[in-house]
Amino acid sequence: MEGVDHPAGLPRAEAVVDLAAVAHNVGVLRASAPDAALMAVVKADGYGHGAVTVGRAALAAGASWLGVCTLQEALDLREAGITAPLLSWLHLPGEDFAPAVAAGVDLSVASRAHLASVVDGARRAGRPARLHLKVDTGLSRGGAQPAEWPDLLDDAAMAVADGVAEVAAVWSHLAHADTPDHPMLDRQAARLTDAWLAARAHGFDPIRHLANSAATLTRPDLQLDLVRAGVAVYGLDPLDRPVPESPLRPAMTLRARVALVKRVPAGEGVAYGHEWVTPRETTLALVPLGYADGVTRALNRRGRMTVLLGGERRPVVGRVSMDQIVVDCGDSRVREGDHAVLFGPGDHGEPSAQDWADELGTIHYEVVTGIHGRRVTRTTVGGPSW
Ligand SMILES: Cc1ncc(COP(=O)(O)O)c(C=O)c1O
Repeated sequence: MEGVDHPAGLPRAEAVVDLAAVAHNVGVLRASAPDAALMAVVKADGYGHGAVTVGRAALAAGASWLGVCTLQEALDLREAGITAPLLSWLHLPGEDFAPAVAAGVDLSVASRAHLASVVDGARRAGRPARLHLKVDTGLSRGGAQPAEWPDLLDDAAMAVADGVAEVAAVWSHLAHADTPDHPMLDRQAARLTDAWLAARAHGFDPIRHLANSAATLTRPDLQLDLVRAGVAVYGLDPLDRPVPESPLRPAMTLRARVALVKRVPAGEGVAYGHEWVTPRETTLALVPLGYADGVTRALNRRGRMTVLLGGERRPVVGRVSMDQIVVDCGDSRVREGDHAVLFGPGDHGEPSAQDWADELGTIHYEVVTGIHGRRVTRTTVGGPSW
């Protein structure tokens, strides 16, 4: 077996995030929606890519807002020095909103109870809260029901009159954005317009926003004042077009360095349960990534998982363990320290996050947000080192 000749200290497992791809994708979104401001959605630590680095890269490339889900996510971005407009949208009534208001974070409000808590935070912060009033136009998740809307507007008007709030936006979220001609899109847009007109009748002058990535790319009529794009920023096609056909470029590559290479005789069972037995003498490579790192067991339940190793796609054999997988390399020469690429943009023939999603019966969103934990080092390429 040949020895390791890779420099010591290289990460054993990495999610490599290509910031040039992020910039490219932001360019695609800006070109699709030239008249709307672009919010890059960086919740869930930037869909697993790193909220701060992706946020900075997206802003540098032409996004003008960032969007997150939780107050802590918003405060983390502010603490990192990001001063761009920032919206946070999923909170419990009774959370402490004062730090977010003090940090200039725009806040989504979906009920009178939410509004009361935000107003309380604004009083304590000593500055008005900027509200994005969310109306439920048909997703039946967040947002105020149309029947609750007039009361919410009344309360908002009182808060504005008291100098503790400004109504910055009226917004909603689509249920069928990945089916651009679904009738629900028009229905939701009409309901949003009704809610926005009611807000204007209360004397507010809010912007409107509705579109996610899919709607940004396919429904110019729904782009309104601002589009909120997440998955497309990371180069994952919201319409599931294969990488070569998509204008987007996947930003994440998941790879790990081979920890051990060995020859094994024919007839040996491999990994827990011995679901795979060596049909001949062969070379096995041990790759130190497993289900604790987001490489879910179900990926190889049908024995179809592959990695790119030594320039070729090679099969993962046996079950995925918590920390490791085994790759059958036949008689090829692979070396300890070589990179095994689990998924990436596909430039070198590696699988894509979409391939994983297809195998798992899920969506690529879940694949990339599932790559987490302290054992996968996040490395950035293609951008300045922020
Ligand atoms: C409220 C809201 N807006 C926008 C987005 C971005 O969606 P996408 O990643 O499909 O662009 C999300 C993500 O789920 C969201 O929750």
